[in-house]
Amino acid sequence: MTTRRNFLRVAGTSAVILAAGGYGLTQCDPMPEVAVEAWAGPKPNVRDPRVRALSFALLAPNPHNKQPWIVDLREPGVATFLCDRARLLPETDPYSRQIMIGCGAFLELLRMAAAELGLRAEVTPFPAGDWPENSVGEQPMCRVAFVPDAGAKRDPLFAQALKRRTNRNSFDATAVLPAEAAALGAVLEGLPVRFGWTADGRQIAQLAGIAKRAWDIEIKKDATFKESVDVFRITGEEIAKHRDGLSMHGPFFWWANKLGLFTKDNAMEPSGRAQALALIDPQLAVRAFGWIVTATNDRRTQLAAGAAYVRANLKATELGLAMHPLSQALQEFPEMLPSLAEHKRAVGAAESETVQMFFRLGRASAVGPAPRRPLDAIIRA
Ligand SMILES: Cc1cc2nc3c(=O)[nH]c(=O)nc-3n(C[C@H](O)[C@H](O)[C@H](O)COP(=O)(O)O)c2cc1C
Repeated sequence: MTTRRNFLRVAGTSAVILAAGGYGLTQCDPMPEVAVEAWAGPKPNVRDPRVRALSFALLAPNPHNKQPWIVDLREPGVATFLCDRARLLPETDPYSRQIMIGCGAFLELLRMAAAELGLRAEVTPFPAGDWPENSVGEQPMCRVAFVPDAGAKRDPLFAQALKRRTNRNSFDATAVLPAEAAALGAVLEGLPVRFGWTADGRQIAQLAGIAKRAWDIEIKKDATFKESVDVFRITGEEIAKHRDGLSMHGPFFWWANKLGLFTKDNAMEPSGRAQALALIDPQLAVRAFGWIVTATNDRRTQLAAGAAYVRANLKATELGLAMHPLSQALQEFPEMLPSLAEHKRAVGAAESETVQMFFRLGRASAVGPAPRRPLDAIIRA
């Protein structure tokens, strides 16, 4: 969720926390290995190709790292996907548009992983009928048949699947080159999306201003901010317990938490919100923003936007570029709608179009992987 330096900048340096570093406790409270074991790929004893492919799919980027997927494997050779309705974001994502984008990214990684195994993943969306409009239904989101196919085309982007990250660090001052942006756009070919980007200082300043105001709106509204705070996983102990959400660990968070300076409860207080508000400033010092726009906004298009986003993220990984979505201005709760409209105009999208993803693009120091729940937690066998 945040970096130690950013947190300290806004929280003020506590002598005790600094002392923790000084007394050689910098190894205290690391990311628990079990929480990130998924990033080593499937274990050798995993034989079922569907499960091997799923081991990569669950590494998909997804909002708040909620991992809202359930997979039913009871039909041989088939994986049936349901969206976990207990893992939605009703306040910040009232129509579950972002949740669907995460599911689309999941399916795209699944498709790539299947191809590596010589299987074609035949995806049938909504096999039991569409969900009621703007909601997530109980019926399956899609049925995927794994069909042996010697001609299944392997995707070079798959080589980045275990290395892809969301990078929330400050980005450095290096420019993103037009050729790099063009390469990101090129991997979205064939999908019903439009890739856009800017390195123009004036447009960046305008978009950064909108992003900051949107961040402010989300944080100042109790219900929307609480949706983030609810998934703050503060300290390795919490991270290992949940293996989802937004991770904060290391000696600084550990001490701040144990001393009662940073807990879920005080995160909701004015001082906690002030800290959260200040986190955006260093993030907005960027040389480029990118976005993904679609002409329609039905469930299938949202899934395609998810495929597009993860593909761009994988290509960025290959190019050594960092990516970080800033979704606040795209959220559809009533208080955000003016910012959403302003943001749409600022990226040059038509009123009838939907900006599905908006992200920072640049170069930054590397970050570690985000937790993932175990396969057992998502599979119904
Ligand atoms: C639709 C969507 C919206 C997202 N919005 C944000 C965001 O506003 N801020 C943010 O820090 N990360 C955002 N993310 C990134 C997720 O938080 C991230 O994918 C998740 O925590 C897992 O981390 P990973 O991508 O490093 O595996 C978004 C991801 C998706 C797919």
